[in-house]
Amino acid sequence: MSSTRPEAGGAAPVSVEEARGLLDAELAAAAGRGGLLPGDVHELKVRWLGKKQGVVTTLLARLKEVPKEEKAAFGAGVNALKQEVEARLDVLEAEASARAAALAEAAKAVDVTLPPRVPPVGRLHPLTVVRRRIEHVFRGLGYEVADGPEIETDWYNFESLNFAPDHPARDSVDTFFIEGGGTGRDALLLRTHTSPVQMRTMEGRRPPIRVLCPGRVYRKDDIDPRHSPVFHQMEGLVVDEGITFAHLRGTLSAFAKSFFGGRAEVRLAPTFFPFVEPGVDCAVSCVFCETGCRICSYSGWIEIMGAGMVHPNVLANAGIDPERYTGFAFGMGIDRIAMLLHGIPDLRLLFENDVRFLDRTWS
Ligand code: DAH
Repeated sequence: MSSTRPEAGGAAPVSVEEARGLLDAELAAAAGRGGLLPGDVHELKVRWLGKKQGVVTTLLARLKEVPKEEKAAFGAGVNALKQEVEARLDVLEAEASARAAALAEAAKAVDVTLPPRVPPVGRLHPLTVVRRRIEHVFRGLGYEVADGPEIETDWYNFESLNFAPDHPARDSVDTFFIEGGGTGRDALLLRTHTSPVQMRTMEGRRPPIRVLCPGRVYRKDDIDPRHSPVFHQMEGLVVDEGITFAHLRGTLSAFAKSFFGGRAEVRLAPTFFPFVEPGVDCAVSCVFCETGCRICSYSGWIEIMGAGMVHPNVLANAGIDPERYTGFAFGMGIDRIAMLLHGIPDLRLLFENDVRFLDRTWS
């Protein structure tokens, strides 16, 4: 018997009527399950019309058992059944493929009610924010921003700036020399300050000059909360006829008020830098307290930069006539100002790239 069994389901129907009853039942059951897909209809097709064990094929195979006089009617009945099965399954198939297409379309649709995926947005590094703020103030005073190399020669970093080869002022800024990089004034080194950009700027153009030179500088310092072998400076240089110390003072005062707030005062105290004469340390009145605090070491003043009148030797080294022109220069630490402004306790935070620190609002 097993060879006559249809591919699935119970005993094979032995008459056309029985088969039609079974077809009605199966299609009704399939409709009851709802949502037929092309795969389901394909299964029904195999079950009913399959060439080997399909219900219709199996029924037709019974033809040889049917008495001779009934053969014609039986054969016609099976044929009619076959056509009916084909027609009904065709209808189901069309519905199933329409349903599948609609489902595919729906899967492509965008669900506008879903919350959007917001890509993480980066922020400017606090040093960049401070650098830009300083630049903003000086651009307003007519300065342009210049750039210079971080690998310098001894000439630009020291000698042209009036540091004699064995001058003790060099010790305070011991630096990294590049092996095989020449000797004497051609020795290559990592610049210890942004002051060499003064020299390069003056060589490249004639007064009037008003430039600001931000950049990275290097010193042979061990890393601790206040020191790093790499840090950042901002240099300023003005050269023209008739520039006096009063211009320097007025400029630093205008910067302090604009950058730290209108109440900020500037205090200048004499000091030595080889490339200026006279040289001054510039302090700004503490903007964090009235009566003294830890930030200003209870002095009321915070030192923020060195400055002075450009030394005549420096002008002459750049080919600018010191009898005709005078100028002033200043240099400040960007890292130090960022730390002051934001109460950053440890310089290393600025270089470690820890996003928990960087992902704050620095303005
Ligand atoms: N170059 C000095 C330093 O690194 C800072 C400085 C002092 C720059 C006085 C100047 C200046 O232009 O006039 O400490």
